[in-house]
Amino acid sequence: MSRAVLRPGDSIDDLRERARRRLPRTAFGAIDGGGGDEITLRRNRTAFDDLLLRPRALRDVSTRDLSTTVLGDPVSMPLLVAPVGYARMAHRDAELAIVRAGARAGTVCGVSSFTSYPLEEIAAAAGGPLWYQLYPPATSDARKAILERVRAAGFRVLCVTIDAPTPGIRRRELRSRLQLPLRLTPRLLRECATRPGWLFDYARGGAGRGRQGLPPVVRTPGGTRTTPAANSVVTADVVAELRELWDGPIVLKGVMRAEECAELVSLGIDGIGVSNHGARQLDSVPATIEVLPEIVDSVAGRVEVFVDGGFRRGTDIAKALILGARAVLVGRPLLYGIAAGGEDGAAGALEMLRREIDSTFALLGATSLADLDSSLVRRAPTR
Ligand SMILES: Cc1cc2nc3c(=O)[nH]c(=O)nc-3n(C[C@H](O)[C@H](O)[C@H](O)COP(=O)(O)O)c2cc1C
Repeated sequence: MSRAVLRPGDSIDDLRERARRRLPRTAFGAIDGGGGDEITLRRNRTAFDDLLLRPRALRDVSTRDLSTTVLGDPVSMPLLVAPVGYARMAHRDAELAIVRAGARAGTVCGVSSFTSYPLEEIAAAAGGPLWYQLYPPATSDARKAILERVRAAGFRVLCVTIDAPTPGIRRRELRSRLQLPLRLTPRLLRECATRPGWLFDYARGGAGRGRQGLPPVVRTPGGTRTTPAANSVVTADVVAELRELWDGPIVLKGVMRAEECAELVSLGIDGIGVSNHGARQLDSVPATIEVLPEIVDSVAGRVEVFVDGGFRRGTDIAKALILGARAVLVGRPLLYGIAAGGEDGAAGALEMLRREIDSTFALLGATSLADLDSSLVRRAPTR
């Protein structure tokens, strides 16, 4: 039986607040922060306020069904878990807790290139479909070696992140002199003075132990040891090569321009991930919900379109579904969840969002995804 981490009336913001109170400032800032001056981080949230919902009258919504498929995998709801690295900063069970929560919710989780546990262990913990998020390394040999390990671990979907040729300028990380794995420096110990729970978790194998935030090491055919790249330059040639090497579906994560979609689709990919990396990379870019409609238009149903960035409520998620997203991904809510209560906290975050999506559907007059159309949303008049 799971432990109730959430209280009646809680929102994802309450979970975030609980994570803030539990984690040392360095760890919380690394999870919560964004790139540059966090203009896009704020915009990813406020942009939802500019869209208003238009509920239908007199619909029988007494039974509802949120289920769908994503790239052929059935999911219980159109909400997936985004790949997030560094999860061990939040809880010692890290990705294991997240994928178990995802499996409990009947949905798909992305697994980052920068995990704290071996990807085989994470795949075994989930027992269901997962996406492997790849930061392609620089050489073809290294890419082949990683893909072999990922395939052998049982992953079918490859999610290639294309917006990280260099890490964003994350001031909260720079100011706290973040280094992974986290070590008990005098600064961190000072921060922990009011965070005994986190320190206890650390001592039991949490953030400081294990390979927190480190990518899998593989041996290339030439015998060199290699890993996915932290600075990952992805060109059309790299995507074409990955297409040749990988049999299963490929999602390109980090697309923000509609006019590029025709070329991306022509590379033989299966999904487009509209993403600004949770506002952690280039600052001053639009919120993803702002560019979603033009990207959906340009893709014109040829591949599935996913979106992430700042989704925290059922109404946020419903807006993206109405605008044509196949599914929405959330990242930080799961990290707040494991910080607040391990696997049960992550499962609680997903169940909260499921209840909110379900309630939004009912109140909109929709019983399933098939009932959604663009008449259900409109832009707020400028005040
Ligand atoms: C702490 C943290 C680590 C992340 N690590 C990765 C990563 O390793 N690879 C990746 O493609 N995206 C990564 N992301 C971005 C997420 O996949 C996703 O795009 C983003 O979190 C969605 O926004 P949200 O957190 O507001 O829901 C990370 C995000 C966070 C917050």
